[in-house]
Amino acid sequence: MSQAKAIALLQQKGGSGKTTTSVNLAGGLRELGYTVVIADMDKDKPDAWSWTIKSDTMKDMAQQIDEKQAREQLATLKSQYDFVIIDTPPNFQTAALKAALLADLVIIPAAPSGMDLSGLMEAKDLALTAGRPYKLLANRVSKNTTMSRSLMTVLEEDGKAFEAAIPQSVKFVEAEAAGLYIGEYAPESDAHIQVRRFAKEVVAYFNGEVK
Ligand SMILES: Nc1ncnc2c1ncn2[C@@H]1O[C@H](COP(=O)(O)OP(=O)(O)OP(=O)(O)O)[C@@H](O)[C@H]1O
Ligand SMILES: [Mg+2]
Repeated sequence: MSQAKAIALLQQKGGSGKTTTSVNLAGGLRELGYTVVIADMDKDKPDAWSWTIKSDTMKDMAQQIDEKQAREQLATLKSQYDFVIIDTPPNFQTAALKAALLADLVIIPAAPSGMDLSGLMEAKDLALTAGRPYKLLANRVSKNTTMSRSLMTVLEEDGKAFEAAIPQSVKFVEAEAAGLYIGEYAPESDAHIQVRRFAKEVVAYFNGEVK
């Protein structure tokens, strides 16, 4: 990869997994050998920052970004790291809009719920309006539930979904409580396998293997 990449996690619906995805994608990319920083733009509740400061292995991974200086601060981070993962607030606060405009790729996580699906459509519209490419990520997927199946169908029909699907797993919640990346907390878990797969797909996207 020739140039640093900024990736914004965007979803209007609160609790869809923006922060969980940000931190674990950062851990997954680092596990693949890249240098990564998380730019936390959720100023009311900087959850990614609060997550990472709890452990020695993650403690320098996130920085809080001031929305008003986002352009300059993100440019500085891009000059220092391979990947800048931008965690954003819900409800399309201006920080989220700004992040979309400054990102090389918007990733929209959606859990199996009606509200997540409508939030997904709105985030897609926002990425398109901002002129940014987007990809969709299934989160909190449980096998054999009707809502998970309809989520997977919507994502498949869109044609821009990652093949990895992040499972519903209490291990993510426990990893967060310990301030760890899922690969450190539960390396043998399906949760970690899917996160690694997702991180590899992100790298492949930027290497032009997947459009
Ligand atoms: N795959 C998952 N399996 C189990 N729990 C999950 C999963 N993804 C997220 N969660 C849990 O759901 C809750 C909300 O997730 P998270 O904080 O990542 O969402 P968010 O989109 O960042 O929320 P907000 O919009 O409020 O910032 C957290 O308690 C998190 O641990
Ligand atoms: Mg969050």
